[in-house]
Amino acid sequence: MAFSLKRSELLRFVSTKLSPSNFSCNNAPHNLYQLRVHAHRIDQSIKSKKMLLRKYDKFCDEIELMKMIQAEDGWDYADENMSDKYKRALESSITHVAYQDDVLCGYSRSLDDCGFYIYVCDLLVKPGYRGMGIGRKLMECLYKDYPNQDIYVMSDVDGYYEKVDYNRIGSIYEVPRNVQK
Ligand SMILES: CC(C)(COP(=O)(O)OP(=O)(O)OC[C@H]1O[C@@H](n2cnc3c(N)ncnc32)[C@H](O)[C@@H]1OP(=O)(O)O)[C@@H](O)C(=O)NCCC(=O)NCCS
Repeated sequence: MAFSLKRSELLRFVSTKLSPSNFSCNNAPHNLYQLRVHAHRIDQSIKSKKMLLRKYDKFCDEIELMKMIQAEDGWDYADENMSDKYKRALESSITHVAYQDDVLCGYSRSLDDCGFYIYVCDLLVKPGYRGMGIGRKLMECLYKDYPNQDIYVMSDVDGYYEKVDYNRIGSIYEVPRNVQK
């Protein structure tokens, strides 16, 4: 029964149960604690039935995220010589994760250029979850968190960004290493 409650109904239900008239002196703290845990669990369950986008949390997301990267052809951030550095980068960058039905299925990692611009460096969606708009939503949620900054993406797949109607502005060039004599 409880899992079919909407959030607003759930909150009403919890506040009714928390009204002082429902407590006897002996068991009030215990009931209060139980109800809160119950409400939290139901809230999580409601969220998990749909897509959830949020900021990266090392303790919740790191293991699954690194597994997803490892499984992706051509992505070497999970290689032994890079993984520790990349894990630190995930924490110090603007990193968002996408969950669908409790499965971590995508992420983006971006850099804030001192409040001027945001540059998206990495965007990845798990193969079985592609074509569902997760990539697009991961990008859009950056504007929700940083509404006053322009956001640019460093593209490895121009076809995708053209497909989702992004404007092409300039290009990236690699600065050569050879020193001028
Ligand atoms: C590129 C990527 C992030 C897109 O994520 P996604 O969640 O599948 O994208 P969306 O669902 O928002 O958009 C899907 C649309 O883009 C198209 N699309 C996806 N990848 C594309 C590509 N490489 N070239 C052209 N179009 C592409 C899909 O065909 C789909 O079109 P449709 O709506 O007409 O069916 C995902 O394919 C991926 O992780 N690829 C491997 C990693 C990668 O290349 N990352 C980008 C690095 S800059």
